[in-house]
Amino acid sequence: MADNLSQAPPSPANPRPIVSIGAGGIVRDAHYPAYDFAGFKRRGIFDLDSAKARKLADDFGLDTVYADLEQATNQPDDVVYDVAVPATALPDLLPAFPEGSGLLIQKPMGEDLAAAKRILKICEDRDFTAAVNFQMRYAPFAFVAQQMIERGDIGDVHSMEFRVTVHTPWSLWTFLEGIPRLEILYHSIHYIDLIRHFMGEPSGVYAKTTRHPANPNLAATRTSLVLDYGDDLSANIVTNHGHDHGRKHQESYIRWEGSRGAIRAQMGVLLDYSTGERDILEISKDGADWTGVPLEGTWFPHAFHGTMGSVMRATAGEIDRASTDVTDAIRTMAVVEAAYQSSESGSTPIPA
Ligand SMILES: NC(=O)c1ccc[n+]([C@@H]2O[C@H](COP(=O)([O-])OP(=O)(O)OC[C@H]3O[C@@H](n4cnc5c(N)ncnc54)[C@H](O)[C@@H]3O)[C@@H](O)[C@H]2O)c1
Repeated sequence: MADNLSQAPPSPANPRPIVSIGAGGIVRDAHYPAYDFAGFKRRGIFDLDSAKARKLADDFGLDTVYADLEQATNQPDDVVYDVAVPATALPDLLPAFPEGSGLLIQKPMGEDLAAAKRILKICEDRDFTAAVNFQMRYAPFAFVAQQMIERGDIGDVHSMEFRVTVHTPWSLWTFLEGIPRLEILYHSIHYIDLIRHFMGEPSGVYAKTTRHPANPNLAATRTSLVLDYGDDLSANIVTNHGHDHGRKHQESYIRWEGSRGAIRAQMGVLLDYSTGERDILEISKDGADWTGVPLEGTWFPHAFHGTMGSVMRATAGEIDRASTDVTDAIRTMAVVEAAYQSSESGSTPIPA
């Protein structure tokens, strides 16, 4: 079954050195490990918290810690910038990069659609080759599933579904406290982006996102979301991050169903957090039993090679544009916006 399936996109012919802005948890846990697997070189790093930048640099054998943003962005044009700071910082930060820069920007693309539009305008005005880090498209389970679907393994796909019932310790991300939008903007956004990647643009969204009693200081962390693809295609996302009842009934999967079969991907990183479990990809076709499809690598960190590699390739002209470039990413932000509007505008009243 794994015949002729590639596990990752091609690497850039000449990987550019990476300059990092932001030395937080995601850079330590995912960006740098993935870049090491891929053989991408780092040139230097800047963080407002210089001690944090120094510690990360020491841990990953990086010599250069820049004293300020000006130093960090004063580079020859052979680099790619890796911007991994909270979304609130992006509109003020992005104008600082030299015209024509290559940039990978961590998701979300701003705090809402209005901010995403400001970010897109900055990228266009400054002629950036810029993409957003929707790396799930390059998770081996998604990358391989896409190829199986494209070659017709499960026939015509009519359903894509995400189900996540896990316990997520939100307190690990202190910048989430007090923000008005949480689960859809910071988590289900990956699933919305992947559904768009597989199924194209939905015409609308039905959504309800709710708070959890265990997190009184946080905005909504549970979501039920339906993307509208008309009367014959089904696409939905159900997440509950407050399932603090042991591993046994936790769930974390994507399921595609088609006219000839179905594919299921377990997203292991969310299970038994932060221990995590394996990613698993399985297929059942033409009525046969489910069989496993071998995977090389995981969503975290291996997929981060794909997004950075795509920006390097686009910057070098090897591809027309990165799959998650800002003009595409803003459509995911638009769906997120519609989801919050749907949730806030209320449900259809039950007739008397
Ligand atoms: N793609 C993914 O799967 C994924 C996963 C986790 C986090 N993220 C995103 O990555 C971003 C960072 O998350 P994190 O977990 O690393 O957060 P973090 O709080 O651990 O780190 C953020 C870092 O950014 C620094 N910073 C803030 N403003 C800055 C500025 N103007 N200039 C330089 N440095 C600045 C902070 O000092 C901090 O060290 C967030 O937007 C988050 O949504 C994405």
